[in-house]
Amino acid sequence: MKLPPTPQTPKLLQMLEWIVRPMAYMEDCTQRYGDIFTLHLGEKFAPVVFVSSPQANEQILAGDSKDFDAPGESNMIFQPFVGDHSVITLSGTRHRRQRNLLMPPFHGERMRAYGQIISDVTEQVVSEWKIGQPFNVRASTQSIAMRVILRAVFGLNEGERTQKIEQLFTELLDKTSSPLSVTMLYFPALRKDLGSWSPWGRFVRLRQQVDKLIYQEIQERREQPDEYRTDILSLLMAARDEAGQPMTDVELRDELMTLLLAGHETTATALAWALYWIHKLPAVREKLLEELDSLGDDLDPGVIFRLPYLNAVCSEALRIYPVAMLTFPRVVRVQRSLCGYELEPGTPVIGSIYLTHRRQDLYPEPEQFKPERFLERQFSAYEYLPFGGGSRRCIGLAFAQFEMKVVLAKMLLRWQITLEDNRVVRPVRRGLVTAPGGGVRIVVTGQRPQNVRKLQTSSSSV
Ligand code: HEM
Repeated sequence: MKLPPTPQTPKLLQMLEWIVRPMAYMEDCTQRYGDIFTLHLGEKFAPVVFVSSPQANEQILAGDSKDFDAPGESNMIFQPFVGDHSVITLSGTRHRRQRNLLMPPFHGERMRAYGQIISDVTEQVVSEWKIGQPFNVRASTQSIAMRVILRAVFGLNEGERTQKIEQLFTELLDKTSSPLSVTMLYFPALRKDLGSWSPWGRFVRLRQQVDKLIYQEIQERREQPDEYRTDILSLLMAARDEAGQPMTDVELRDELMTLLLAGHETTATALAWALYWIHKLPAVREKLLEELDSLGDDLDPGVIFRLPYLNAVCSEALRIYPVAMLTFPRVVRVQRSLCGYELEPGTPVIGSIYLTHRRQDLYPEPEQFKPERFLERQFSAYEYLPFGGGSRRCIGLAFAQFEMKVVLAKMLLRWQITLEDNRVVRPVRRGLVTAPGGGVRIVVTGQRPQNVRKLQTSSSSV
């Protein structure tokens, strides 16, 4: 059976291009081959099929359980962080069971409590901003997203352990952020612990330190159970499976690492992009401020969440440079025709979120940041999919959108912000996500005086 077209370059070169310039490479391929192509990126350069049309996205995602599997084994690139018992690396029934355990705390009533946490943490971080001193806003969004996860998921307030986890985990991610070091994730053979000065040795030692802190927290919770705690760790510790068994310490550790990894770097990056576009385009900024100012004293996170223009700005930020370029791989279960190609069982297929979001037929002038797209029409779940879809759709989807909106509202209402310069920021690979190349550097030029009172009341009324 014939695979969809693939570049004529050697497989090693395909892999290198993928690591160094993933977005440009996908664009080159789609221009040359259309909606479906093959790259050799799998284990030992096995072929992986890329698709980007809404129809193909629907086929691979909606058909998840029938025609396509979404096996955890395909996500082993995350294994060094999240282990073997994470919702990301598990398959089949065990995957479904973990999803069922993890999803309820990310919906409904619980979101109210998170609104308070997000609001308080943002206040804490932005109150340290200094007028007139340029800085990379990513440092702030990363701190916010990390502290929000530590509070909401681990139930950790400020303290030595929180600070240590924040510092060590940030370092751990930095160890795999450059294209060179991300190669270690793609090629397991390069993961050699040659002592604490070798790249992998350093990674392993940092991970051990983070693990130690996580296990200490679990241990303390077991020794001093508190039935009134509502953080996600407490809910997971109280959960029982069909056989009445609780999660083991290793299972708990793996899920905590998963939420820490999946939930903070993504949101922090999406916020940095949104801040870039808002301050790059004066018309967008003005319209957004007008909407935020219209809230008067009502800074309820629930109200912020429903603001139409803010929603459109966040949606467009996740469209133009989706933080996650790809869905997790799906695997053909029974022989399938996809975009005219008969694919054999076992073939991995990936939905390119990036390419779907750049389709001229869906998003005219796809290079332009235009929030109005999301006010003028509704996109289907396979035309717009920053959070993937089907059986592995992002668990933190509502949480991330809520966080983006509350953080942006709080920042913009409090401070007058400009970009440090007029440089065009392009996306680059940062570890496994797509980040602003060179960062988004901003300068705070002053307070927005009319909002000082509102913010003071908000922290007690949200
Ligand atoms: C802007 C922020 C975020 C983006 C763009 C994003 C994107 C994604 C994408 C594309 C997937 C793969 C979906 C698929 O293959 O169909 C995913 C999976 C996942 N996300 Fe997110 N995510 C974000 C924030 C979060 C947050 C805040 C959390 C939790 C605190 C989270 C937890 C997860 C988990 C656990 C999975 C794996 C689900 C599974 O394997 O069943 N994400 N995310």
